[in-house]
Amino acid sequence: MSLSLKVATSLMRWGSRNKRFGHQDFYTASFARQTEGGVSIATRREFEDGAGFFRPFDGSLSVEDFAGKDVLDLGCGHGGRTVYYLLHGQPRSITGLEISFERTSVARESARRISDDDRMGFAIGFGESLPFCEASFDIIISYDVFEHVSHLPHVLDECYRTLRPGGRLYALFPPYYGPRAHHLDFITTLPFLHHVFSPSVLVEAANAILKEQPQFRDVPVSLSKVSYLKREVLPGLNGTTERDFFRVISRSPFHAEQVNLLPFAWGPGGAAKRVVRNFCRLMLKLPWPFTRDIFAGAIMCVLRKEVRSQESGVRSGH
Ligand SMILES: C[S@@+](CC[C@H](N)C(=O)[O-])C[C@H]1O[C@@H](n2cnc3c(N)ncnc32)[C@H](O)[C@@H]1O
Repeated sequence: MSLSLKVATSLMRWGSRNKRFGHQDFYTASFARQTEGGVSIATRREFEDGAGFFRPFDGSLSVEDFAGKDVLDLGCGHGGRTVYYLLHGQPRSITGLEISFERTSVARESARRISDDDRMGFAIGFGESLPFCEASFDIIISYDVFEHVSHLPHVLDECYRTLRPGGRLYALFPPYYGPRAHHLDFITTLPFLHHVFSPSVLVEAANAILKEQPQFRDVPVSLSKVSYLKREVLPGLNGTTERDFFRVISRSPFHAEQVNLLPFAWGPGGAAKRVVRNFCRLMLKLPWPFTRDIFAGAIMCVLRKEVRSQESGVRSGH
């Protein structure tokens, strides 16, 4: 066993037992199948945090903006937020799109128990190849998904194709070098692990701990992989940093209305969280391009498909 593997395993084991950095529930298929009143715990939790998506958009998007619109929830998980958007936003239609068959079936069953409304539907598919005709939606939203997709540029192209002219894509996701963006929370929320250890070392360490503590997660962590950015990254992630995202947007057909880095600990919380958030917010103001992600909790963006004038082919925003 290499020294770095020994250190990573010990650190993660310590973190998993620590009160502050302990493990969080992982939404495996068996976890999501646990129900309360016929509704999956996973769906219920997503539903209860339905308003969370709008917080960082600071008034540029509220759930009421969905009224009368055709909305796509790209990477809808267990459908809890999708049904929240339906009930609170009253869209003309809302479609949850998921790559996972298991999650789609949980979404179909559980979200329908919260509201059995024909305006809501769920589809299985890839963000990289959306199973919808062009100009199908007025709004696409995507929460905590862009860090997972295999090929982000293809996903943006597909969002552009399926949006109507003047439509907008709203996305929120953590940059790869965000403090806790390693997504090893099912063992420990200890930050910066992926800054110190290579993806393959972290995978090996995580699997060693899962052997000792199988209750953390009933499926092993798969091997690290090379992402669309041609870098080795942790499994299930694509490694997109803020700089990468700007590059991806600039090559996409979208007009970027807003792209912001949110400070780490941007969500609701107590005094300690506020201190960390304010410190990170301050750090993000400094002109250090290579260190920005480490103070960031999420990237938020509003991308618009411009209306093209048919006569001249000129793009015009409105
Ligand atoms: C962290 S979950 C977020 C779920 C939900 N948006 C929420 O905020 O509760 C990320 C979801 O994206 C889905 N996903 C990952 N890659 C995808 C892809 N290429 N196309 C569509 N969905 C994808 C995953 O299956 C997973 O359910």
